[in-house]
Amino acid sequence: MKPELIQKIVDIRSRVVDCRASGRTTGFVPTMGALHAGHAALMERARRACDVVIVSVFVNPIQFDRPDDYEKYSLNLQADVAFCAARNVDLVFAPELKEMYPSPQHTYVEVPRVSDRLCGEYRPGHFRGVATVVAKLFNIVPADAAYFGEKDAQQLAVIRRMVADLNIPISIVAVPTVRESDGLALSSRNQRLSPAERRVAPLVFKALEAARAKIAGGGRDAAEIKEASVALLRAEPRIRIEYFEIVDAEEMQPVEQFQGPVRIAAAVWLGQTRLIDNVLIDNAPIDSVPISTS
Ligand code: PAJ
Repeated sequence: MKPELIQKIVDIRSRVVDCRASGRTTGFVPTMGALHAGHAALMERARRACDVVIVSVFVNPIQFDRPDDYEKYSLNLQADVAFCAARNVDLVFAPELKEMYPSPQHTYVEVPRVSDRLCGEYRPGHFRGVATVVAKLFNIVPADAAYFGEKDAQQLAVIRRMVADLNIPISIVAVPTVRESDGLALSSRNQRLSPAERRVAPLVFKALEAARAKIAGGGRDAAEIKEASVALLRAEPRIRIEYFEIVDAEEMQPVEQFQGPVRIAAAVWLGQTRLIDNVLIDNAPIDSVPISTS
């Protein structure tokens, strides 16, 4: 069945409040549209757990650090609503820009430390924009649970910390990264890759997997593990590495030696397109040694 398309904040909030008052559980999937199988995994997970599934489609200008990236972000609401219909979504919330930001935003949510490294270092203001819009969305769509992809691991960590620190009454559910058969993590930005760039893009996941294999084999020296994977990526001239790091899974701080849950995370440029990916290694107790404890 076609989901109901709602564009006004008062309408979506009252619908969600009514659902909860009638005893139905509600699951929320925030997105920026251009929906693909990665988003579908979130919707399907919410569908299995909740009576009512709500998807938001809103390209949030305050989280883009580069105007060209925002401009290139194509929105096709009809296609996104059809995509949601095929996943049995109940409500699609697609506000206009003026509905979300009727006047200049003066209030921001910042999650320092968790936001400082990796993407936060290279995309100034990005996580402040994400945390702020997600806090707004959680007030607009007061659901029981919200679903986020592990593909954006630092975003997930920022949101978990924001919800904990601000006592926001919503459960955060993490969904594993959906990949193409060659390992490339699905992303709306993949469609910007040229055929030649697309051919080499799976090397990012291969480099992450190589590091994972080293850790599984008992490797504990982060610098050595990183070096080998970076060398793999450097062998491909089309790839420009932005970062390749091993961080603790909660605060996203680089670790030197580790035994606890870590994420290996990478960002690369292929021509004009920036790709990120990560893998989680969570088979050991948390006693990683952060490089900086400030
Ligand atoms: P967007 O990039 O549209 O992603 C929406 C959700 O889908 C995020 O939780 C993201 O991690 C998840 N996702 C994307 N690709 C995935 C993949 N290959 N596998 C699994 N999950 C995947 O992330 C955002 O939008 C925005 O920052 C948002 C949270 C909506 C705030 O504006």
